[in-house]
Amino acid sequence: MTEGRFPEGFLWGVATAAYQIEGAVAEDGRGESIWDRFSHTPGKVYQGHTGDVACDHYHRYRADVEEMARLGVGAYRFSVAWPRIFPQGRGQANPKGLDFYRRLIDALRERGIVPVVTLYHWDLPQALQERGGWAHRDTAYRFADYAAYLFDRLDEAVPYWITQNEPFVVAILGHVTGEHAPGLQDPMAGFRAAHHLLLSHALALQAYREGGRRHGRIGITLNLSPVEPAGDDPEDEAAARRLDGLLNRWFLDPLFRGAYPSDMVAHFAGLGLPLPEPPQEEMRAIAAPIDFLGVNYYSRQLVRHEPGEPLMAMRQVEGPLPKTAMGWEVYPEGLRRLLERLRHEYTGELPILITENGAAFDDAVSPDGAVHDPARVAYLRDHLLAVSRAIDDGVPVRGYFLWSLMDNFEWAHGYSKRFGVLYVDFDTQARIWKDSAHWYRRVIEANAVVD
Ligand code: NOJ
Repeated sequence: MTEGRFPEGFLWGVATAAYQIEGAVAEDGRGESIWDRFSHTPGKVYQGHTGDVACDHYHRYRADVEEMARLGVGAYRFSVAWPRIFPQGRGQANPKGLDFYRRLIDALRERGIVPVVTLYHWDLPQALQERGGWAHRDTAYRFADYAAYLFDRLDEAVPYWITQNEPFVVAILGHVTGEHAPGLQDPMAGFRAAHHLLLSHALALQAYREGGRRHGRIGITLNLSPVEPAGDDPEDEAAARRLDGLLNRWFLDPLFRGAYPSDMVAHFAGLGLPLPEPPQEEMRAIAAPIDFLGVNYYSRQLVRHEPGEPLMAMRQVEGPLPKTAMGWEVYPEGLRRLLERLRHEYTGELPILITENGAAFDDAVSPDGAVHDPARVAYLRDHLLAVSRAIDDGVPVRGYFLWSLMDNFEWAHGYSKRFGVLYVDFDTQARIWKDSAHWYRRVIEANAVVD
């Protein structure tokens, strides 16, 4: 195919997540989530920002769907807030929670936009955290109940389900570094959480497959990055292999090979960490076939050996490439290489959806009322070219979801990092098209990367 052209039927989308955009945290019976609790804890989020109002999408979803229709997207990836459906995480369901997502899905369908639904994008019901959260095996079972509840009610309307979003981030940032909710700093809790997140995926997958005839497909989304040594010292190369083992292989190996990576198990055992030894049947269930793999890609990781660092004996270093406002290097080639690696080592012919890719920059409204974001356009263009090259080389990438539709609550960074193609004025809730939105509309229309 000509460079930069996409196959017919390629799914063009935008992505968001419930806590980052909805607001309305106390409305229609929604229960508290760990992100409500965390963001309201002083010192956890930039300038004390919270998701209380966010983009007020809960009230403005119709207008937001209109914006998507104007962009011309064929699909919209959003997440369901578990505490809207089960305010206590289990037990009594809250029908008003489900109603909201039905209304949203109806609005999308009226516009011919396909819903791609993430079941868990980090807003665990606080009541389940109090019972141990993801570090506790029971949470995986409660997740499967919640998932089955939605499958049974929305099956016909939802062609793509994503069980978990970025289990690495939930396990490590939530339980080891403490940068995300629930804010624990306990490596063993992190390993247990990682396993229970994978188990929750497996149990939801089972519920989906066993629930009779289903109309859609189901997969999981991982955050994956190439990990490269900062120098050519063999110690740095070993350090890069270790971070690859935790960031990428700790999730890919169980999902596609049914076992945690043995070099990493040996590494942690060498540190005397009593890693959980899951029953074989759980590992088998985790490796059950999925219908697609969701890939979130932003950048690469550069690392150096650092003997003093506990757990991983390495540290991340700043790379030489130009960076986004997150401080992440712009490295489109990494996406192509990642996709090639996935196909050769893990996914083969399994379809891949790029469920997130995008960039934060310090956008501002110009005197002419527009938002000029040439760096984002360049970022998106180069990453889309990388995707199209991978497709030409035979990687079955079926869709691309730009993160994000609009500026939103960027977790511990609050509203200080803007990832949207729509600019959000958080005082007035006005949505303003950035140049990148106009550009993306043309890409979708052409089904090709345009200038
Ligand atoms: C990954 C997460 O899934 C999403 O919630 C976050 O906003 C983006 N990456 C950008 O950091």
